[in-house]
Amino acid sequence: MLDELRHEHRMIRRVLRVLNSAADRWQQQPVDPEGLIRLIRLLQDYANQFHQRVEEEVLFPELEKEGIPQQGGPLEVLLAEHREGMGYLKELEDYLQRLRQGEAAIQAELADTVRAYSLLLLAHIGKEDMVILPLAAHARLGKGLSELSEEIRRNLRDAAKEAEFDWVLRELEEELGLPEAENLDQDDGAFPVEADALADEFLREQ
Ligand SMILES: [Fe+2]
Ligand SMILES: [Fe+2]
Repeated sequence: MLDELRHEHRMIRRVLRVLNSAADRWQQQPVDPEGLIRLIRLLQDYANQFHQRVEEEVLFPELEKEGIPQQGGPLEVLLAEHREGMGYLKELEDYLQRLRQGEAAIQAELADTVRAYSLLLLAHIGKEDMVILPLAAHARLGKGLSELSEEIRRNLRDAAKEAEFDWVLRELEEELGLPEAENLDQDDGAFPVEADALADEFLREQ
């Protein structure tokens, strides 16, 4: 299950790469917002309803049992970031709708929101990948978590939607001329994440 979460983080990083690339180009050439709206809606399901629910309903409660406080500690910060991210996605969808309706001036706000959302999510994923998931692996939660998460994943998983998510993502990557996103698990330079700084900040929050 920990590997699945890492894989989902990688998918989310691919979406952020697409959104940032589109935002960079808005100034020079118009990008059709249709595909991006579709991507945002799919991400709302994938990141918020699926990925985050597994974290909130399975991973975080198990870590709490290991002595990491849910309230007043790092897990509370991660939960708050989930809510904040959902707010940004709603905002992004709204801006894209207005762009589609011809409100070109909205591009600047849209680009700002893409950047704010990316910063939030990259730091969030960084904390999970570099601190939370290794902690869970260290506590040997992996196996128990797999059993626990099996049912929730069975209920939430929607193969057709996941295939659509992958397909829409690929289409947009192609349209934007982005290279294959094979190494997004590692820092490939596109998203510099200071691992040590993040871990320090995270531990200070505890
Ligand atoms: Fe998360
Ligand atoms: Fe996550």
